[in-house]
Amino acid sequence: MNAYTVLLFIHSWLRWGVVALAFVLLFRAFTRGRGGAPWTSADRGLSVAFTAALDTQLLLGLGLYFGLSPFTPRTGAALGAAMKVAYLRFWAVEHVFAMVFAIVAAHVGVASAKRAEDDATRYKRVAIGVAVALVAIAVGIPWPGLPYGRPLFRF
Ligand code: HEM
Repeated sequence: MNAYTVLLFIHSWLRWGVVALAFVLLFRAFTRGRGGAPWTSADRGLSVAFTAALDTQLLLGLGLYFGLSPFTPRTGAALGAAMKVAYLRFWAVEHVFAMVFAIVAAHVGVASAKRAEDDATRYKRVAIGVAVALVAIAVGIPWPGLPYGRPLFRF
């Protein structure tokens, strides 16, 4: 194992942490939020954990993108060339755009929930941010079977 495979391994597995937290947050918003239950410290902890996991993915992703990955462009000319090849274009732009969009959506949702005047609105804003993030993540994941597909579980 070298630094590249270690980072890729963590980035690959942390995706499931992100996805699991997203589903737990959505589940709580649909059950507790719609049922009129109060927003608790568990909800706050889960939303902080969700954005922190995404921020960690961003850091790991930047390390891979600009440092260690052999699939990402290092120069403008390489970026231009990568745009013509589906496999390289996915790693050069599509994955990053989808994931950065997801990270921004999650942060906006969680931050605007903090300013909400009541708990039902708080749950709703978190749910919207998480749902938008989850769709973008689903688009950006290199699902097996796609030309740029990767294993669901990396060992
Ligand atoms: C929600 C956040 C993110 C998730 C869920 C995610 C998920 C993934 C997954 C599942 C892989 C494939 C891992 C494998 O091969 O087993 C991957 C690879 C990669 N991701 Fe992300 N990613 C995220 C954010 C980012 C960001 C923001 C960047 C760039 C700034 C990035 C850059 C990369 C790179 C460069 C690779 C590896 C390409 C290679 O194989 O060398 N990722 N990511």
